[in-house]
Amino acid sequence: MKGGNDSLGDLPTTELLEQGSRLLGWIAEYLEHPERFPVVSPLRPGDVRRSLPDAPPESGESLEKIIADFEQKILPGVTHWNHPGFFAYFSISSSIPGILAELLIAALDVNAMLWKTSPAATELEQLSMDWLRQLLGMGDGWFGLINDTASISTMLALAAAREAKGDLAIRARGMAGRSDLPVLRVYCSEHAHSSVDKAAITLGFGLDNVVKIPSDAEFRMRPDALAAAVRADRDAGMLPIACVATVGTTSTTSIDPVEDIAEICGIEEMWLHVDGAYGGVAAVSPRYRHVLRGVERADSLVVNPHKWLFTPVDCSAFYTRRPEVLKRAFSLVPEYLITREQDDVVNLMDYGVQLGRRFRALKLWMVIRAFGADGLAARIERHCELAQTFEHWVAADPAWELSAPVPFSLVCFRYAPSGLSEPERDRINAEILQRVNESGEVYLSHTKLNGQYVLRLAIGNIRTEEKHVARAWELLKESATASTSYGVLK
Ligand SMILES: Cc1ncc(COP(=O)(O)O)c(C=O)c1O
Repeated sequence: MKGGNDSLGDLPTTELLEQGSRLLGWIAEYLEHPERFPVVSPLRPGDVRRSLPDAPPESGESLEKIIADFEQKILPGVTHWNHPGFFAYFSISSSIPGILAELLIAALDVNAMLWKTSPAATELEQLSMDWLRQLLGMGDGWFGLINDTASISTMLALAAAREAKGDLAIRARGMAGRSDLPVLRVYCSEHAHSSVDKAAITLGFGLDNVVKIPSDAEFRMRPDALAAAVRADRDAGMLPIACVATVGTTSTTSIDPVEDIAEICGIEEMWLHVDGAYGGVAAVSPRYRHVLRGVERADSLVVNPHKWLFTPVDCSAFYTRRPEVLKRAFSLVPEYLITREQDDVVNLMDYGVQLGRRFRALKLWMVIRAFGADGLAARIERHCELAQTFEHWVAADPAWELSAPVPFSLVCFRYAPSGLSEPERDRINAEILQRVNESGEVYLSHTKLNGQYVLRLAIGNIRTEEKHVARAWELLKESATASTSYGVLK
């Protein structure tokens, strides 16, 4: 059979060529005109599920029919993260080099668990992580690996922090039922991401032992409060093991004072992990390199190219200056995974929980090559400039107010006309958010700061231009007027 296998093998490659070129055409059109789709899916819970059969097909179906169902039944239930009007959470986007890389990754389908199981996957991971390190302006001496998410990267960092206190012997003996083990404490700001808490749950530290350090008026961790908390814990017989500083917190993108925190961690012999999941990548621009100041004194760092470096989800870049500790925490080589060259190469399975891993380096490498250092920096800078433009619009309108400084490309703001009580302001902002998100043109999210309901507009999509931000502002103002005149306040 031309281009195919026997009937018990894969589909013929002619199908790949035919349907593949159709799909590439569809993707090109999608990226060219994403506004054909509402950013937020308008479907109700269960709609997608109900539109599809409960049972799998008895016999194989044609790709044509499957793709038609994708368009008719799946797409309406998609919220379009790749839409230039996506301003919620931290906006992300997959770029064309990233999309093409994903195609190759799926086609090769390698498992990079060992160097031997695909030397290029391991070596490209080391190389692309080293390129990214250079782009971020970081010095030598960092070992990098790519995880799926920052949550996992932070969990690995805290596992390494625990292992660094080698005399605790937790790897061998566990933590339960041990009267010889002090309570282990982890510190982060009250604005740190919930992944720190999840890591504490997973590693058995317990949520109560994640100490949330108060922040200053600009939502940055207060080093004096950190030092005091550590002192108090030591006095109470507890063992401080790690601090997580954030560069670009989730709610406001505030930047913790990493240098001062590093000083305290040095004195207290605590592992310093820096969570730069969103904000850290801004350092690819020389204008924003300062955001990683102090990181050279950290033990580990995470930045997410899948958040703000145009690499499709998932791609979380995890660095540590102490790979031997991470390896000590996780390396476990059963007979069937022994390879002849294991002492001379990096085997990525040694540095984390998972065995199997995708060839994610290919997409990071292709994205870095396709845009180059200048191209990446220019795109990040443009997003920050767009955020500053929006910030000025908000600041210039007396009915609105800014709720936090804007160090990157996220603006926190709210509608706050005079004469309204705080509960009324909260209610009206929630109403505005609901209304603009129902427009189908934009998607924003919210947070609470100092007890107030606040809107967030996060710019990070590679296709977002000023006209999209301007449209968001127009919709917000229209919605504020509508909410006021429809009597939402009553
Ligand atoms: C500061 C920060 N850290 C960690 C995370 C978690 O990222 P991931 O989804 O990659 O686990 C986020 C998510 O937005 C974040 O904002």
